[in-house]
Amino acid sequence: MPRSRTAAEAALAQIESELGQALPPFAPGDLDALAAAGGGDVRRLKRWLKRRTAGEALAHVIGGFEFRGRRFAIDKRAYVTDPEVTHLVDALLRRARAHAAASGRPPLLAEIGVGCGTLALTLRAELPDAQVVGLDLDPDALAVAAANAARLGLPLRLVESDLFDDWPADLPAPDFIYGDPPWGDSTTLYDADRPLSHYMAMPPASSFPLGGRTGVHAQILRAAAVRGWASEIWLNAGVLPRAELEALAGSAARWEIVTPRPGLSLLCCQMAPAAAK
Ligand SMILES: C[S@@+](CC[C@H](N)C(=O)[O-])C[C@H]1O[C@@H](n2cnc3c(N)ncnc32)[C@H](O)[C@@H]1O
Repeated sequence: MPRSRTAAEAALAQIESELGQALPPFAPGDLDALAAAGGGDVRRLKRWLKRRTAGEALAHVIGGFEFRGRRFAIDKRAYVTDPEVTHLVDALLRRARAHAAASGRPPLLAEIGVGCGTLALTLRAELPDAQVVGLDLDPDALAVAAANAARLGLPLRLVESDLFDDWPADLPAPDFIYGDPPWGDSTTLYDADRPLSHYMAMPPASSFPLGGRTGVHAQILRAAAVRGWASEIWLNAGVLPRAELEALAGSAARWEIVTPRPGLSLLCCQMAPAAAK
C-alpha cells in the first residue's frame, strides 16, 4: 500500500476515534486523490477529510484539478470545471482552425464566464496564435484565472464584465463566443459523483442561472444580437433536454444542436441582428 494511502487511512482512523463513530463512505477514488495530494502528512489529510466530509468539492480541498493534461489551481473562489466541457474545447479547436485557414488570420475568441480560466487557457495553449478574452462577473474567479495564466505562462486578457457590458473598446466583435454559463437546476445534474451539494458548494453566481434553466444562455444570445455581432456562438448545455435548446435557439439566424456524447448537448448558433428588437 502506498505510504500516502496509509497516511490517509491513519487520518481517517483518528477522526473516527475523535468522533466515536464512522464517517460516511467516501466516493470511489476520493480517498486515493486526497492521499496522493496530501502526501504523508496525516494532520493535513485529517483537515482535508473533514472539509471533504462537510461537502467541499474535492478540487477545492486539494487545491487543483487536471483538464486535458494540464494542472489548474483552484480554491473556493471559482467553479470547478466539469470534465464534460472538453467536448466544447474540441468543437472550438475544430472551428477556430477552420476559420483561421479560411480567413488567413488568427481568430478572436471570447469566453463568457471564464471562471478559473480552464477553457480559455486550454485554447490559448492549443491555438497559440488565437487571441482569447475571458469575461466574468465575479472578480474572485478572475483572480484565480489570472494566477493560472501566470503559472502556465499563457497570456490571457481578463475582463470583469456582466455579459459583454465591458467588452474592450479596442477590440472588434469576437469571431467566436463560447462558454459554459450556469444552466439547469437541481434536477439536471451530470452524475451521482456530483450531487446537488457539489454545486451548492460552488460560488453562488456560477452554478444556477438567473432567469431559469437557460436564462444566462438566453441573455448571452440577446446581448450578441443587440451588438449586431455575427460571431459563431458555442454554449455548453450539459444534460438539458433538446426541446429547451430548440426554444432557446428560436431567435437565432442559424443554429445547430451538437451531441458530442449521448445525453450531452452543445448549442451552436449565430444571431440575426433583428433579434435584438
Ligand atoms: C459554470 S461556471 C464555468 C466556469 C468556466 N467556464 C469553467 O468551465 O471552469 C460559470 C461562470 O459564469 C460566470 N457568470 C455567470 N453569470 C455571468 C454573467 N452574467 N456574465 C459573466 N459571467 C457570468 C460565473 O461567475 C462562473 O464563473
